[in-house]
Amino acid sequence: MRGTSVSGPYGYICSTTWGVFDLSPFRPEIEALEQNGITRVALPRITDPKVIPLWFGEGDAVTPQFIRDAAKAALDEGQTFYSHTRGRQELRDAIKDYLDALYGVDIDPARITVPGAAMMGITIAAQMALTTGDHGLIVSPNWPNIETAYRVTGAEVGFVRQREGADGWQLGAREIIEQTQKRTRAIFVNSPCNPTGWIMQEDDQRELLEFCRARNILLIADEVYGRLVYDRDIAPSFLSISRDDDPLIVVNGFSKAWAMTGWRLGWVVTPTRSATHWAILSECFNTGAASFVQIAGTAALRDGESVVQDLRGRYRDAREIVMQVLASHPRIELSEPQGAFYAFPRVRGLRSSLDFVHGVLDEEDVGIAPGYTFGPHNDAHFRVCFAQSHPRLREGLERVLRYIDRHENDFASREESS
Ligand SMILES: Cc1ncc(COP(=O)(O)O)c(C=O)c1O
Repeated sequence: MRGTSVSGPYGYICSTTWGVFDLSPFRPEIEALEQNGITRVALPRITDPKVIPLWFGEGDAVTPQFIRDAAKAALDEGQTFYSHTRGRQELRDAIKDYLDALYGVDIDPARITVPGAAMMGITIAAQMALTTGDHGLIVSPNWPNIETAYRVTGAEVGFVRQREGADGWQLGAREIIEQTQKRTRAIFVNSPCNPTGWIMQEDDQRELLEFCRARNILLIADEVYGRLVYDRDIAPSFLSISRDDDPLIVVNGFSKAWAMTGWRLGWVVTPTRSATHWAILSECFNTGAASFVQIAGTAALRDGESVVQDLRGRYRDAREIVMQVLASHPRIELSEPQGAFYAFPRVRGLRSSLDFVHGVLDEEDVGIAPGYTFGPHNDAHFRVCFAQSHPRLREGLERVLRYIDRHENDFASREESS
């Protein structure tokens, strides 16, 4: 027992620090939550200027000036009040115009809600579909917060893992469908994928959506990296093939494509019939995103296409640096990421990704993320975010290699004994 039990003022036993066997006011699912591996490694040194931070999903570029100016002007005009719980009308209109133009569709405006950041959209979506006794499926490797959002619901969590072969990371709709159960109520797909860069092909999207329609399973499609693709214009989107009342929630946001991670702004496209539920739930979570932030988001969508293109160009060059520096190293297996801004290399002979990233941080002052936190069977991997400015990125990657070379004997002996 971890906690200390003491006699409370009313004579019953309570605990000062809740442990596994102590009485706790919290649900067991909450007690069982673990901090994700990225935060666990980063927290102790998060403000240390010596560290080259390749661990979180953001770069070092500040949000463009015209977006910041829009927020400042909104504050000066007194935009400090509650907003509509599903988002300000002009922002929802801008999102509709943006999506219609990008994907050649005509989205029903009632499908669009701005709950707060994309993460909030995912959390609400998971809670709409899952509860204790259900099964929720996640395409992995996956960003760890997805698993947490699922676990909070009390549902059992299952994974279907992409395969890495000569052509990079692959997974077909059939393989996802085969991992569903009778109790499966939600499937989470993030394409382009954090951390692998995998992109789901349109035929596979069709097949999976058709299956979800037939089985009435909620498909949560996370498309926050949809603009960050390097060998084509845009990633295939479920929006191009969906109908208004499909069991589909497409999540997107401003964090990645407009460099707005700290603003906590995103949107969801949902079935038309769930609009009221989104209004109710958004009200419970945060009563809508901050008004001045939404005004900044509107400016980003209306005038920010060049921002998206600039960032994309910068990340494409960064991807090249990653491939140049890491891929030729004899201990590293790495296929070129097709989208997003991460590389997810495997280190031959690596047993514990957590020990590895702690070692790199302690000896080389580089922050990277441990593979174990991205779902099962990833403990020989680590993740780097390549959105940092290029000289810092190159320096960080070279230091990771220096660490690997310094410990070559350890990797070699572990490889032999495995
Ligand atoms: C796959 C994925 N989905 C969602 C998010 C969250 O985006 P937001 O900052 O809008 O909450 C992230 C952030 O890293 C992500 O990697």
